[in-house]
Amino acid sequence: MRIVIVGFGTVGQSFCKVLHERRRELIAKYGLNPKVVAISDTGGVAADETGLDIPKVLELKKAKKSVAALEGKGHKGKTGLEAIEENEAEVVVEATPTNIETGEPGISHIEKAFKLRRNVITVNKGPLALAFPALMELARYNGVMLKFSGTVGGGTPILEFGKRCLEADKILAIRGILNGTTNYILTEMDEKGISFNEGLASAQKLGYAEANPSLDVDGWDSAAKCVIMANFLVGIDATIRDVDVKGIRDVTPKDIEKAKAKGAAVKLVASIDGKLSVAPVELKRNDPMCVGGALNSVKFISQYAGEEVIVGKGAGGSETASAILRDLLEIRNNISVV
Ligand code: HSE
Repeated sequence: MRIVIVGFGTVGQSFCKVLHERRRELIAKYGLNPKVVAISDTGGVAADETGLDIPKVLELKKAKKSVAALEGKGHKGKTGLEAIEENEAEVVVEATPTNIETGEPGISHIEKAFKLRRNVITVNKGPLALAFPALMELARYNGVMLKFSGTVGGGTPILEFGKRCLEADKILAIRGILNGTTNYILTEMDEKGISFNEGLASAQKLGYAEANPSLDVDGWDSAAKCVIMANFLVGIDATIRDVDVKGIRDVTPKDIEKAKAKGAAVKLVASIDGKLSVAPVELKRNDPMCVGGALNSVKFISQYAGEEVIVGKGAGGSETASAILRDLLEIRNNISVV
């Protein structure tokens, strides 16, 4: 199976590492023989129709160089769109950074891939937050698959749980702590009595926050994930403009203390229950979805099964790589190419 990777940051690199480490097992166990035929980053493209030498590419990135520096295979200045256009492949992995204002360059990459009849795995939330219904329709029209397991919950199979395990039930509502950075900040504020700004500085030091921390702390990352869940799991044709969003900037140590006195903790919760919203709310500490640190948790409330909570890490290179691999295997099971 030929793969083009567009965007080669932590997640793209982790995915390549996992593919390389598990290549024998993937063939033996799943009949999957993945070949990365092109990779693009901000400096250009590396391409090889017989499959790129992954350890060499990863070494370049370790040395802070572009993939375009790959000897004999690198093309300085080439773009992600060109990588998709010029390289035959069954799957395009879209791993450029999330932009929830324009969805770009992700939307253009995905549309281009669909028009060329390539299946797409995206870990980029921007295109789905802005155009989920349109992109699903375009995939259907072109007879290809769009997979996005890593966009919600990192490696934690939140979307799969809701889709597959609750398929025969009726989901009435979903509530979730969908952003690890804000959960970490609120937990630090709760445990150490520090201010929001001190909590944010600590989250940035640990590399939790997005490059633009506003996405996390102002609730937009949670809202994007809320939109993806609403479309995919509840069948609501929504975009990020349909979410009522409030972040955690205004949460004070006093708010945290007030919640504590009631046996509760302040958490940034995304809700899908007739309407879509993201806001800091008080959760009882003995509520199973009241998790600490950078964890994510989602509570599904369904008609027959009642309440179920799934908890796990919501971000991280290897965790998100595991979600991409999950999507890749699913595509593999639906097409004949190995
Ligand atoms: N910044 C996000 C978070 C990363 O903190 O959860 C995963 O989408």
